[in-house]
Amino acid sequence: MPWDRSAPHPLLRTWTAGRGLRGEGRTAVVVGSGLGADAEHLASLGFRTTGFDVAPTAVRLARERHPGSPVSYEVADLLALPAAWRGAFDLVVEVYTLGALPDPPRSDAARAVAGLVAPGGTLLAVAFRRTPATGPADGPPFPLARAEVEALATGGLEVVAVEEHDGPHWRAELHRPA
Ligand SMILES: C[S@@+](CC[C@H](N)C(=O)[O-])C[C@H]1O[C@@H](n2cnc3c(N)ncnc32)[C@H](O)[C@@H]1O
Repeated sequence: MPWDRSAPHPLLRTWTAGRGLRGEGRTAVVVGSGLGADAEHLASLGFRTTGFDVAPTAVRLARERHPGSPVSYEVADLLALPAAWRGAFDLVVEVYTLGALPDPPRSDAARAVAGLVAPGGTLLAVAFRRTPATGPADGPPFPLARAEVEALATGGLEVVAVEEHDGPHWRAELHRPA
């Protein structure tokens, strides 16, 4: 799998490091958590962390790869989330899951990601960036246009920053007012 990595995504790691982010007393969730590197990173910062993935194999491998981890790895479908998760997480991290999906159902999935953010909480999203060279539909992964990233600002979420990075990548930060 091209996304089999044992270290947090560099655009997540530099974002948390740049803020000196600590998570004690706060909750985090990693959407489409795959093999768990990003969830483990958030747990190492003190967040009470959930990682979920629709693939039972990914959840099993994440648990096996991180024995004794404080992360709660769960099988769950972004398009049919437990009601209790709505607005439940102070930090929501999404790396490459939206870009793994065609549209539909990507727009519904984006609304579901936004819906996880608690009042006062933050969404950090990392995605491949569409450029003239990538074209609109070279997927999966499907590189996203800026408008698709900005469309994460639904249900009261507000865009803090949408940054272009090499890769080419987007790193987007959104916030839900308290
Ligand atoms: C490209 S991989 C990225 C994995 C991980 N975020 C990373 O960056 O290493 C996309 C992940 O999203 C998961 N996924 C796809 N559709 C999903 C859905 N509807 N709900 C939850 N997870 C989903 C896949 O099983 C896969 O683990």
